[in-house]
Amino acid sequence: GMKGAIFDLDGVIVDTAKYHFLAWRSLAEKLGFEFTEAHNERLKGVSRVESLRILLEVGGIEATEEERLMMADNKNKEYVNYISQLDPSEILPGAKEYLEILRSQGVKIALGSASKNAEFILSKLNITDLFDAVIDGTKVSKAKPDPEVFLQASTALQLDPSQCVVFEDAEAGVQAGKAAGCQVVGIGSPDILKEADIVVAGLYELLAQ
Ligand code: BG6
Ligand code: MG
Repeated sequence: GMKGAIFDLDGVIVDTAKYHFLAWRSLAEKLGFEFTEAHNERLKGVSRVESLRILLEVGGIEATEEERLMMADNKNKEYVNYISQLDPSEILPGAKEYLEILRSQGVKIALGSASKNAEFILSKLNITDLFDAVIDGTKVSKAKPDPEVFLQASTALQLDPSQCVVFEDAEAGVQAGKAAGCQVVGIGSPDILKEADIVVAGLYELLAQ
């Protein structure tokens, strides 16, 4: 059975993709091109630097290292403005209940997120205490689909990756979980999350089991 559960944050526990999108779109606007929700799909699970690289590619824009740092920083400031308004009502359906059920069953719980804002978001949602370990973008050097984040998370839980189940909404995240040697539950559409062991629409679907 599952001894450890490792949760992605954005798109699994809270829908922050809409705020990332608003902030990236406003950067694109300043740069003079349109950035759509379809483009934004490519940024899910992807690190901040890699997201910017993709956005600039979409706009066909060249930028120096220094300009990129400024752009990423401006985007993050706007994003942090949005997420400062987060509250527990924005936790996705069933997520908190599922974490509580797992805890009551003695399953160890970690966060495995690419975000450097993860601790801030957990505190806004008031769920920091539900996690035994938090591995986020401030601790990881290789972005998903590299397995590093999930390997670090299983180590922090003192478990082997094979004893852990990863919960992921992004294709790159599912690949990272499989590469780490974990079981992977995809959250979203089976068409996109082909490599997951099982796919559910949301954590609420797991409550009844
Ligand atoms: C991931 C999101 O969880 O975190 C990505 O799915 C985001 O869209 C990435 O780019 C990095 O987040 P942040 O908060 O460090 O900019
Ligand atoms: Mg995600």
